[in-house]
Amino acid sequence: MKRVAILISGGGSNMVRLLESMTGDHPARPVLVLSNDPAAGGLALAHHMRVATAAVDHRRFGRDRAAFEAELADHLDVAQPDIICLAGFMRILTPAFVDRYAGRVLNIHPSLLPKYPGLRTHQRALDAGDEQAGATVHQVTADLDAGPILGQARVPVLPGDDTATLAARVLAAEHRLYPAVLRRFAAGNRDRLDLD
Ligand code: GAR
Repeated sequence: MKRVAILISGGGSNMVRLLESMTGDHPARPVLVLSNDPAAGGLALAHHMRVATAAVDHRRFGRDRAAFEAELADHLDVAQPDIICLAGFMRILTPAFVDRYAGRVLNIHPSLLPKYPGLRTHQRALDAGDEQAGATVHQVTADLDAGPILGQARVPVLPGDDTATLAARVLAAEHRLYPAVLRRFAAGNRDRLDLD
């Protein structure tokens, strides 16, 4: 059984879907939900789902990313995860941190990478007049939002969409994609998954 830690910064709707998926014949189980924000709504949800939680407030560390990450690593060392899922985790991780967990860290990003790494993905898709948007799950490497792609889910951009309506449609696709990719990844399958 693979051990999964999930890193969040906010509401944690992807985290909830991942936690819900890890039952029965799923090859993984959750061992920790960790946040950089003690007030992240997802921490309470994870607690209600009886998963261990921890928070390391990044604001205590100022610009000292290494010290922040050392404390994250302390929690991870206790939980001993085989797989780390970033799920709405909004801190950029240093190459040293990523190297330490090389090949074991997944991220979900709200665009069809390689389009629109970084922030404001939905606004950028609308500004470009794209007919399709979507989400990507990829392996995390030292390059931001650029690691090997494990899966993508596509949704249409509809007439009249604004960032809120598009984000909601993409988020629903994220909720289908991330659990499906995690299940495959935990079983050793790195083949790309495409959902339409
Ligand atoms: C999701 O849309 C996720 O793709 C995005 O944040 C949202 C978190 O929602 N992640 C990023 O933008 C990463 N750079 P959630 O907390 O409800 O899962």
